Amino acid sequence: MRIKTIASFIEKANVCVDVGSDHAYLSLLLVENNKSNIVYNIEKNPQPLQNSINNTKQYSNKIFNILSDGFKSFDNSIDIDYCVIAGMGATTIIEILSKCLNNVKYYIICANNGYDKLREWIKNNKFKIYNETTILENNIYYEIICFSKLKGKKLIFKKDIEFGIRKIKKLDKYYIDKLKAELLKKDYESLKEKNKNLYKKCKRIERYIEKYGTY
Ligand SMILES: C[S@@+](CC[C@H](N)C(=O)[O-])C[C@H]1O[C@@H](n2cnc3c(N)ncnc32)[C@H](O)[C@@H]1O
Repeated sequence: MRIKTIASFIEKANVCVDVGSDHAYLSLLLVENNKSNIVYNIEKNPQPLQNSINNTKQYSNKIFNILSDGFKSFDNSIDIDYCVIAGMGATTIIEILSKCLNNVKYYIICANNGYDKLREWIKNNKFKIYNETTILENNIYYEIICFSKLKGKKLIFKKDIEFGIRKIKKLDKYYIDKLKAELLKKDYESLKEKNKNLYKKCKRIERYIEKYGTY
């Protein structure tokens, strides 16, 4: 579901890079559906790299598997249409993004957590967000964030960083469900004394849901 949705955001690419490719499912979808001429799978760990190599043997002229910690051992003269990073925490993703010296048109990021941290990095680095989509996979909600310098909307306000840009988020069908699930999990009234910051955050989520969703 996550990987298929990410693939659905990619069209007519010459070069795509999937950082942390593991089984290489994304590269297979992209090449088999003629969405990208070339895909580079970047893997930091030898075993997942071996998974990538085993699964992509029949496309050895289109899919290239590279052992590298992020972009450290990747040729930085290669122009990239889409850079995908999925299935990692925001801190790792930001570390990888910060060290990328390639010319990249579009980034598609599906983190496991820390979406506000990511949006802050996107704002600080003067990118614009052009799409955000929430999906539910194995009972976990994920937000896919697409950003670029070429198109999209700037993050301006604090609330843009916390909740995403409203004009984009209002098209994101499952975002309110994700927020509701977050509140349910937290039993936030009990946080009032124990963790004031988290309590305040829950209150902001509650107000957002009241304003934009049906409770
Ligand atoms: C949980 S898997 C995600 C696989 C796939 N991208 C997905 O979303 O289903 C994370 C993968 O990222 C790789 N990884 C973690 N940090 C990395 C880094 N700095 N550079 C390259 N790969 C990394 C891990 O070895 C692992 O195979």
